[in-house]
Amino acid sequence: MKTLVIVTHPFLKDSRANNALIQELNLHENIDVHNLHEEYPDWSIDIEKEQQLLVKYDRIVLQFPLYWYSAPPLLKKWFDEVLTYGWAFGSEGNHLKGKEFILATTAGASEQSYRSGGSNEYTISEFLRPFEVSIKYTSAVFLPAFVVYGTMEATDEQLKLDARKYVEHITASAEALVD
Ligand SMILES: Cc1cc2nc3c(=O)[nH]c(=O)nc-3n(C[C@H](O)[C@H](O)[C@H](O)COP(=O)(O)O)c2cc1C
Repeated sequence: MKTLVIVTHPFLKDSRANNALIQELNLHENIDVHNLHEEYPDWSIDIEKEQQLLVKYDRIVLQFPLYWYSAPPLLKKWFDEVLTYGWAFGSEGNHLKGKEFILATTAGASEQSYRSGGSNEYTISEFLRPFEVSIKYTSAVFLPAFVVYGTMEATDEQLKLDARKYVEHITASAEALVD
């Protein structure tokens, strides 16, 4: 199965975590990386091109650093403009039906902080809920997210290990992921 990873990072040249993930993705022939900020430096998204790209893949990964408990704004713009009525939803909007989506995010804070009673109070799954319901709204399949926690303190070695786990996660079968 061919997988498309759509990366949204406004400052990728300064990135450690997302760059480590991308470096690992680039080693795998069955994974294609599509970088939104590189493709659209002026934020003018080519909607038709994005839709044509999505149609070619059965699994789509949305990768981004967690910013204010959400995604960087170009990804929100991508949702607003690309997932249109009559294409992604509505009586004839069935182009994403049955496709598998995975969110992949990197968080500065620790895993322990993302829980009830922790400093961030809620789990990342709870913060990612608007993405989950939006994806399900298009009749696509929403699979468990991949999260790299504690990016501030993580060593380069740790990030490399995380990147390998990332590729294992996004290439695993849906059955294995929801088990
Ligand atoms: C504008 C902004 C908002 C951020 N918001 C959060 C946040 O809500 N939760 C969190 O854990 N980390 C937050 N961070 C930290 C980033 O998630 C972290 O630096 C990033 O995932 C590291 O990835 P990178 O090395 O690829 O940039 C934020 C960083 C920035 C710049």
